[in-house]
Amino acid sequence: MELITTYICKKFDIGVHDNMFGGTLMSLIDDAAGSYASQLCDTPRMVTIKFDELVFKKPVKVGNILKVYGKVVKFGNSSLELYMEIRKHNVYTGEQEIVTHTNVKFVRIDEEGNPIPISERVKLRYEERLKKYGKGLLTIEEKGSEKEIHNLN
Ligand SMILES: CC(C)(COP(=O)(O)OP(=O)(O)OC[C@H]1O[C@@H](n2cnc3c(N)ncnc32)[C@H](O)[C@@H]1OP(=O)(O)O)[C@@H](O)C(=O)NCCC(=O)NCCS
Repeated sequence: MELITTYICKKFDIGVHDNMFGGTLMSLIDDAAGSYASQLCDTPRMVTIKFDELVFKKPVKVGNILKVYGKVVKFGNSSLELYMEIRKHNVYTGEQEIVTHTNVKFVRIDEEGNPIPISERVKLRYEERLKKYGKGLLTIEEKGSEKEIHNLN
């Protein structure tokens, strides 16, 4: 799994029970997963088609640092399924506990909003990156040294 984003829970994220609002946590997953899917697939046109079950196992309070992790479960033809996890991060000990996790599925669409295939190049590149770097998103420096896979679209 790789770290996608980090978020600090703020006062305006809190619902009626002094806990972070469930819908906001869901939105955090959707944002992180959507941006992850777009970066992996080299396109901003990735739409959420399915969210699996979400269980909120731990309350999130103001000031808590949340880390959102993700990984690819499966590339389909036009779809990409991700596993996403939100963890509370303790800055003193470095310990983390899972707040919630779920699978989210995205579909690559064209300009008219119709599903189109995710290229084989993208799928192969993810496998290569996973083997070499243990992750799908690279830093600029890592990208510079990455051997691109050509002619596989
Ligand atoms: C995404 C969308 C274009 C797909 O259209 P569609 O007619 O359902 O497309 P298809 O039936 O050809 O399926 C496309 C892919 O989605 C998958 N899919 C469709 N319905 C699904 C369902 N109920 N559950 C899981 N996957 C599903 C298919 O398996 C297929 O994957 P594959 O190409 O990897 O095999 C359409 O459903 C849509 O526009 N939905 C709204 C998206 C949205 O607004 N999301 C919120 C904002 S981002």
